[in-house]
Amino acid sequence: MAARTRWDNMWILIFTLFCFCDRSVAQISYTISEEVDKGRVVGNVAKDLNLSVQQLQNMDLQMASGYKKRYFDINRESGAIFVCERIDREELCPNLAKCFLNIEAILSNPRSLHRIEVLINDINDNAPFFLEEAITVDISEASHVGERHPLPVAHDADVGTNSVKTYKLNTNEYFSLDIQSAGDQSASAELVLQKALDREKEPVIELILTAVDGGKPPRAGTLQIKVNVLDVNDNSPVFSKPLYKVQVTENANVGTILLTLSATDLDEGVNGQIVYSFTEGARLNPEEIFSLNKNSGEIIVKGNIDYEENRAFEIRVQARDKGSPPRSAHSKVLVEVIDVNDNAPEILVSSLMSPIKEDAEIATAVAMVTVTDRDRGNNGQINCKITGSVPFKLKSNYKNYFSLLVDGPLDRENISKYNISIEATDEGSPELSTAAVIALEVSDVNDNPPRFPDSLINVFVKENIQTGTTIHRLTTFDSDSDENAKSTYSVLNSPKNTQISSMITVSSNTGDIINLQSFNYEELKTFQFKVQATDSGVPPC
Ligand SMILES: *[C@@H]1O[C@H](CO)[C@@H](O)[C@H](O)[C@H]1NC(C)=O
Repeated sequence: MAARTRWDNMWILIFTLFCFCDRSVAQISYTISEEVDKGRVVGNVAKDLNLSVQQLQNMDLQMASGYKKRYFDINRESGAIFVCERIDREELCPNLAKCFLNIEAILSNPRSLHRIEVLINDINDNAPFFLEEAITVDISEASHVGERHPLPVAHDADVGTNSVKTYKLNTNEYFSLDIQSAGDQSASAELVLQKALDREKEPVIELILTAVDGGKPPRAGTLQIKVNVLDVNDNSPVFSKPLYKVQVTENANVGTILLTLSATDLDEGVNGQIVYSFTEGARLNPEEIFSLNKNSGEIIVKGNIDYEENRAFEIRVQARDKGSPPRSAHSKVLVEVIDVNDNAPEILVSSLMSPIKEDAEIATAVAMVTVTDRDRGNNGQINCKITGSVPFKLKSNYKNYFSLLVDGPLDRENISKYNISIEATDEGSPELSTAAVIALEVSDVNDNPPRFPDSLINVFVKENIQTGTTIHRLTTFDSDSDENAKSTYSVLNSPKNTQISSMITVSSNTGDIINLQSFNYEELKTFQFKVQATDSGVPPC
């Protein structure tokens, strides 16, 4: 539009010159600053055109065509042309380096036209300005020192020296300003990075760019620049502890939360989002017993924790961010398993001497008893005793090693078998106990002689019985067993009765008394003899 206006004015001028060429006179030039007060005298036409009072009275002063306002008027007494409207150079001649207002002074007798050209001088009445009040610039924290970022240029409605001459940046740690000005072109500026950025330290840098014009005094306009420092994955996650220690009781329920890992990452967005995982390479694969929530960091009991199998776990863990490439950190979790009294004592009987002879002496060792408990501490502390009353006792040899000893007289004929109950109890809470029964047999010793039912046995025999008849069968009782109770019989020869061996005989095995002759009642009515029973024990009784 500025160019159009300029050309319009030019045509008007040419037309005017053409019409009045024969009588045109030298043109007058005046100069005045814009924005002067109304009434300010621009020049005196009476003087400059050498006009008479009569000519002044009939003179017509008008603006060349194209102007909306009549900026000037004339004092017809003095011939002074003065300002009668506000003159704003920027409104009249935007973007023009030189601004003229053309006035025509038309005289009637003789008819002639005088062109008056008023040069409107710029004053510094406009400050530089930016099209926006504030801008945002995104700069990566990985940017190198010396990197440049162009800035918007400032505009100024004024021209020449009153236009934008330079820029200033507020004092700051990170950026300097590089100003480019090429002759009449308005100056422009670039931000130059002077120091490495660190989003984690300063995520936003507020700058103020000031554009200053060359007027006297100068005017200035500002632009707020918000530098968003863009994150780069330059920080690794950091665990809250280099080593986590935690205790867990054995047999802890599945689902028990052991602990929550916590790692932080100074970066933002995915660069700061952490994923937890177990690190491979541990002696035990923790996956079998624990699970790890990769997002929350919770370590949860998943399998059976058995103190007797593992008293502690060393789990290696990793925290990794989602940046690309990702960064990671490592830590260790020491899980100490606390024993629970979940194992009863065990009783082991060895070297059992059964049967034991009934004449075994007091303190004879019958068996070795070993008690064990897989638990620890009080849970594994065992007390061992015999329940019930039996002629045996436990003697502690060393810690949990005992001897089962004879503690009283044994008598097979009275008790031939013992069930010896042993009870082992730990000191856990609640306590657990185990019972074991040792079946012990008592073997016979030939400690009882055979006994006849009576000390005197009467046998009645008819006279004249056939020789070789069993007249009686002897029986004995022996409380010993087997050979020790098996009797053999014999007739005891006595000096009183030397004939007896020809009269009867006793079968040594069966005890049968057999006559070797027949008897005659009239000759012999009674006779006596002694028999002896002997058992087969060693030694015999
Ligand atoms: C010993 O225990 C066994 C098995 O319970 C039983 O059959 C037997 O009768 C018991 N013996 C004694 C002498 O109590």
